[in-house]
Amino acid sequence: MKIGYFQFRPLFGKVSHNLHKVVAKLSNAKADLIVLPELAFTGYYFKNRAEVKALAEDPGKSVTVDALTALCKKGKFRIVTGFTEKARGKYFNSALLIGPRGVEHTYRKIHLFNEETKWFDAGNIPLQVNKIGSARIGIMVCFDWAFPEVARSLALQGADIICHPANLVLGYCQQTMLTRCLENKVYAITTNRFGYDKRPQGNLRFTGRSQIVAPGGTLIHRAPSQREELFIMDIEPALARDKSITPLNEVLRDRRPEFYKVLTSKKGKKS
Ligand code: ACM
Repeated sequence: MKIGYFQFRPLFGKVSHNLHKVVAKLSNAKADLIVLPELAFTGYYFKNRAEVKALAEDPGKSVTVDALTALCKKGKFRIVTGFTEKARGKYFNSALLIGPRGVEHTYRKIHLFNEETKWFDAGNIPLQVNKIGSARIGIMVCFDWAFPEVARSLALQGADIICHPANLVLGYCQQTMLTRCLENKVYAITTNRFGYDKRPQGNLRFTGRSQIVAPGGTLIHRAPSQREELFIMDIEPALARDKSITPLNEVLRDRRPEFYKVLTSKKGKKS
């Protein structure tokens, strides 16, 4: 299976420019699955919710989704892309799984980062795994990396590959994803953007370094920090079905959930 990412620099608010960039770059790509960054077409650093409202699209009536669907049809691949989603008066930081026939799944980011809590509604769709041929993919978005429960929930549902659109500003995620992949024995494609969103309220710089990690927690490939890169490689998704970590231990089978009940309670100890 050929998987990959396209790391680029979306220009804030220039949806059709960003779309043309993606279409031009991917139109001859030979792949099965390509992951794009979070909020890939609008840019990230919104001033307020009104700006989100002005730029968000309903995937059912979206020029962007239609163009990506045509791209998937031509290239016979699937795309997972960050998407600024409008849905019945709500606004989500979403990721869409798009194939030759259109949107196959929508994930809405459940852990909003910092000021995103002012602009977006929190995700309201359960974590889910989708099949692409014989591979099973799960989706999470950027800051979900900081909550190991997300990757674990996807692995427990059978994900072989975690697709992870991101707009990273902190420096920890890329390294942390090695651990997420080791502790769940899954692949992960983290697609970040690079460059700045220069806005009236300030500038935000994104850290690039998109990457593909193997189920042993080994880094297979990492992009430069501040350069565009389309990267596609062959993987064997079935390697993610081997959950052993020693001859006598498996990372999912050997869990003792009866000792982790606190994880499913909102309470936790106050700091
Ligand atoms: C982030 O979640 N975009 C940092």
